[in-house]
Amino acid sequence: MKIVIIGSGYVGLSLATLLARSGYQTVCLDVDKRKVDIINSGKSHFFEIGLDYLVSQGINTGNLTATTDYQTAMKDANIAFLCVGTPTTETGALNLSFIYDSVNQASKYAKDGIIYVQRSTVPVGTGAKAINLIKENHPKLRFHYLSSPEFLREGSAVIDSIFQDRVVLGGDIENDENAIVKVLAIFEKIDSLKHEVIHEIPDIAKFADAYLGNSGAKTSNGTPFKDKCQVTKLESAELIKIVSNAFLSLKISYANMISNLCDKVGADINEVMKGVGADNRIGRAFLYAGLGFGGGCFPKDVKGLINSLAEYDVDSDILNAVMEINNNQVNIAVEKVKKLTKGSIGKIGVLGTAFKQGTSDTRESQSIKLIKKLADLGYSVSIFDPQAKEETEVDLEKYPSVVFEENIEEIFKDSIAVVIATDWPEFKLLDFEHLSKLMKENNIVDARNFIDKTILKKYFNYSGMGVS
Ligand code: UDX
Repeated sequence: MKIVIIGSGYVGLSLATLLARSGYQTVCLDVDKRKVDIINSGKSHFFEIGLDYLVSQGINTGNLTATTDYQTAMKDANIAFLCVGTPTTETGALNLSFIYDSVNQASKYAKDGIIYVQRSTVPVGTGAKAINLIKENHPKLRFHYLSSPEFLREGSAVIDSIFQDRVVLGGDIENDENAIVKVLAIFEKIDSLKHEVIHEIPDIAKFADAYLGNSGAKTSNGTPFKDKCQVTKLESAELIKIVSNAFLSLKISYANMISNLCDKVGADINEVMKGVGADNRIGRAFLYAGLGFGGGCFPKDVKGLINSLAEYDVDSDILNAVMEINNNQVNIAVEKVKKLTKGSIGKIGVLGTAFKQGTSDTRESQSIKLIKKLADLGYSVSIFDPQAKEETEVDLEKYPSVVFEENIEEIFKDSIAVVIATDWPEFKLLDFEHLSKLMKENNIVDARNFIDKTILKKYFNYSGMGVS
């Protein structure tokens, strides 16, 4: 079976490598020649734990290739996964042209019976529009069009692609039945790989027991594959993804809102949410307060759902509040800096620019927004991130005064405050006693509530987000 993956970002490339590993002839199709060349050289074009290993293995076995050419990729292909980007436009709507263009291009060369699987996150109704487009432009082509949203997180894209918590597949249950069976069989094959692959991938193998056992890193492993599958209507599958992400964003903003109350009344948000999350109906996950959510998914998906709600004249107040609270967390962190430094202007160090730990991605990073605000207020800002230097320099092109340091000591040296803005685990291991001595004034804002406050309080005037 030949499978084409159109778009080789986090979603596409992780899936492609696992398909290649499962023995399928897999072709990555991408318009960006640079990415294609890097993949063909046996590497990933972005940082993701385990991905370099799997790309290299796919290329070496010959199961994985990459191309920019639709004709080469689509020749004799049985299935094409659509994993292209759907960036947000200035109005907040998603730009879906990559989906429509790619399906249209692919259909020029597709053979009868081709199965398209829409994997990109899209607004509800996109699949139906794509189906009409193919019918109009390629009236003779027989095809199936399914939607199977991905649920992977950056930083654990490979693991999440292997350990599928749930497999949602939307389509026309009567007419697409065979196609549905084929696609589910592919996902099952990936699922069956987990025991062998996980021990083999450096950087992931050390966590193997946690993933495979019952210790909670992933909980669904004992569930038989078929019980994880849900076959739905096309539109329902499209909604499941975006509604899930918006709900998780809502949990985060809820925790952030309560953290601001904790600051006022002297409660501790971590204690509050531990107690709240102990109710199984609520759960502790995604109730961690801090600087707010960023990345390529949550902000985009919440805005995308707000747009769909508006398009169909359904009230979206609750999600507007989610975004408002999220935007305001950056201002709240800035106010904490101002309060600790008693209004004096000087050097501020910021640790972390990626939107979260484990990734070099700075899209919609709350940390980058914070850095810009601090620079606009006249502070001289020094920043550090263990992975995201290149991305950060692009984001801060218009902020030449902000200095990216290679050495964490420089972040603390002569600073009047340091802000911990990304939850990189290595920041927990820093020698805070030594670093505090390098500062002009010992102020620290842990904007991720991530380092033990008793340690920080020993050496700094400390402020957390809803933690005092
Ligand atoms: C998310 C979803 O988790 C994943 O299922 C979906 O497919 C894509 O979007 P991702 O964007 O990679 O994944 O990151 P995630 O780990 O979910 O975190 C998103 C943001 O929320 C980060 O900025 C993180 O720091 C923040 N966050 C998360 C919180 O502020 N508090 C929390 O309790 C959890």
